[in-house]
Amino acid sequence: MKKVKLAVLVSGSGTNLESLINAVNSGIIKDGQISLVISNKETAYALKRAENAGIPSFIIKRSSFDSNEDFDKYLLEKLIENKIEIVLLAGYMRILTKPLLDAYKDKILNIHPSLLPDFGGAGMYGIKAHEAVIKAGVTISGCSVHVVNEHIDGGPVIAQSRIKVMPEDTPQSLAKKVLIEEHKLYPATVQNFISTQVQL
Ligand code: GRF
Repeated sequence: MKKVKLAVLVSGSGTNLESLINAVNSGIIKDGQISLVISNKETAYALKRAENAGIPSFIIKRSSFDSNEDFDKYLLEKLIENKIEIVLLAGYMRILTKPLLDAYKDKILNIHPSLLPDFGGAGMYGIKAHEAVIKAGVTISGCSVHVVNEHIDGGPVIAQSRIKVMPEDTPQSLAKKVLIEEHKLYPATVQNFISTQVQL
């Protein structure tokens, strides 16, 4: 069976990318291969992780384009050139625009560090989501994998993992605990998602 070609879009540290790479290597993601990593930040440590794993990667800078749409059109060309079938956002700090969303409709996934629809949407990224969780005083948090559409963090949720928020938790301690769950949830969900897309 031919493996489904995945691209991972990153902007930062890339620990989720690393968990996806490990999952391909260990066979948790048995029906996919990471063919490409794209970063919009040249300083992203995720690029080093891709290099270490021997995965082709490149940087696309927003400053090279006149608009977000032009940026995404170029990105789209690269995805098509590389015959990418599914796109995985992993700490990718850009909002996708219509050209990309239309071309890869229902083929783009994201991982978000809260139990969506709670603590999602504009401004709810990274530590900010965890700060909001602590401030709200909820006792359960977690992470969600969702299909990406035109609504920020608003596409269909396809998997979630829950953890307890302890009274002594800070946004930082919560982020660490949730990240451990992200690293398990994302690879497992990607494999499930692939297996529902193709006739194996
Ligand atoms: C993760 O918490 C992810 O949910 C969010 O950004 C963070 C990225 O971490 N979208 P990393 O770059 O994968 O280490």
